[in-house]
Amino acid sequence: MSQAAIERQIRDQFLHRLTESRLMTDDLFRVVRTEAIYDRPIAQRHRIVFYIGHLEAFDWNLIAGQALGEGAVHPEFDRLFAFGIDPIGGGLPSDQPADWPDLREVGSYVQRVREGLDRLIADTSHTRWQYPQEIIFNTAIEHRLMHAETLAYMFHQLAEDRKIVPADYRPIQSGPLLRREAARVVYIPEGIATLGCPPESPGFGWDNEFQYHTVRVPAFSIHACKVTNGDFLRFIADGGYNEARFWTDGDWDWIQEQGIRHPVFWIREGEQWFYRGMYQRAPLPLDWPVYVSHAEAAAYARYVGGSLPTEAQFQHAAYGSPQGAETAYPWGDAPPDDSRGNFNFHRWDPAPVGSYPRGRSAFGLHDALGNGWEWTSSVFAPFPNFEPFRFYPGYSANFFDGKHYVLKGASPRTAGCMLRRSFRNWFQPHYPFVYASFRCVQN
Ligand code: AVJ
Ligand code: FE
Repeated sequence: MSQAAIERQIRDQFLHRLTESRLMTDDLFRVVRTEAIYDRPIAQRHRIVFYIGHLEAFDWNLIAGQALGEGAVHPEFDRLFAFGIDPIGGGLPSDQPADWPDLREVGSYVQRVREGLDRLIADTSHTRWQYPQEIIFNTAIEHRLMHAETLAYMFHQLAEDRKIVPADYRPIQSGPLLRREAARVVYIPEGIATLGCPPESPGFGWDNEFQYHTVRVPAFSIHACKVTNGDFLRFIADGGYNEARFWTDGDWDWIQEQGIRHPVFWIREGEQWFYRGMYQRAPLPLDWPVYVSHAEAAAYARYVGGSLPTEAQFQHAAYGSPQGAETAYPWGDAPPDDSRGNFNFHRWDPAPVGSYPRGRSAFGLHDALGNGWEWTSSVFAPFPNFEPFRFYPGYSANFFDGKHYVLKGASPRTAGCMLRRSFRNWFQPHYPFVYASFRCVQN
């Protein structure tokens, strides 16, 4: 096959995946009632309407602008909707709904970008691409699918009457409390962990997943299961939020200033606790992983006399084996499917810990991939010889500020294509809205 034919095939596959991921995010915005489109469910982030434009402006600026050297499709909107991550430093945004364009204008921008891009991608000779097409295409798709997750946790904070429940939603069933292996601690012998994307792996990786390297990890012990709501309830009952000794100074100041007394996904009513599910309130499911900020996870770990795992410890425990070999996934090298974990949009909420025995790691960890990202104690920083993508220099580098922590694994709303071992997520320690769980290293 000629080079041109190969490149054409790549473009056709990409257009197919792009169409699918557009349908995915279109469906997601349908969850929001029209009257809530200009809401700001999380104070630190943009209003919802911004993200409708952002997904398209990002694709246009990347594919047409950076990769093909084309001009603007809409000079004002291309810039207005360009950046969508939470503001670093500074105060909270104070813009008003009226500062944003009308929804119909945003809608026609979406259509114009999509039609323009589809035409450009189909018609432009491969010799004009200034970067390898696969890298540009994967960047666009994964960016969109990452927002499918960050939008889900944002819509999670909308009141129930501002949302429309999708037809495929299955109500929460609080089953009997299964303790199973919940308290089991696993010994992980000293070994070598690979960080980053191995060169022989054929797929895509973001800039922060390179350069691949190995680290020696001394022996340690880690819990087989994520910390559950039931576990965390004990921390609260024991006065966890009232005792400064469990918290770093900065974390303690944060919970005082914000008046934080429990996870943001919990609701207290008198003596009773409820869970804020995506579409319904339910009695607190005690066997679900608790979703908390890094600050709360670290405080709990101190309370039990443990710590959060480092990125290398997590990697070794989740992907290593008693024989020493590492696998592509916690369960081995078989590709992910529904039986292996709670990921890839099958559910909107967590599942009881240990629900996926087919996803167990060689060392016996449950839910190491799926059912909630896992906080690590590692500050998000570049691997040695890091190089930013030239067409998107700020994706990771803007966050190498010592104020973000690495999360590994995946959540119920993480797309299948990002379930690779090398994928790194990051958030600030005082950001409680993410589908982020944790497990403790026992010292
Ligand atoms: C990698 C999830 C931390 O949401 O801030 C989206 C992803 N970057 N658009 C974020 C992202 C630019 C990013 N996270
Ligand atoms: Fe973005």
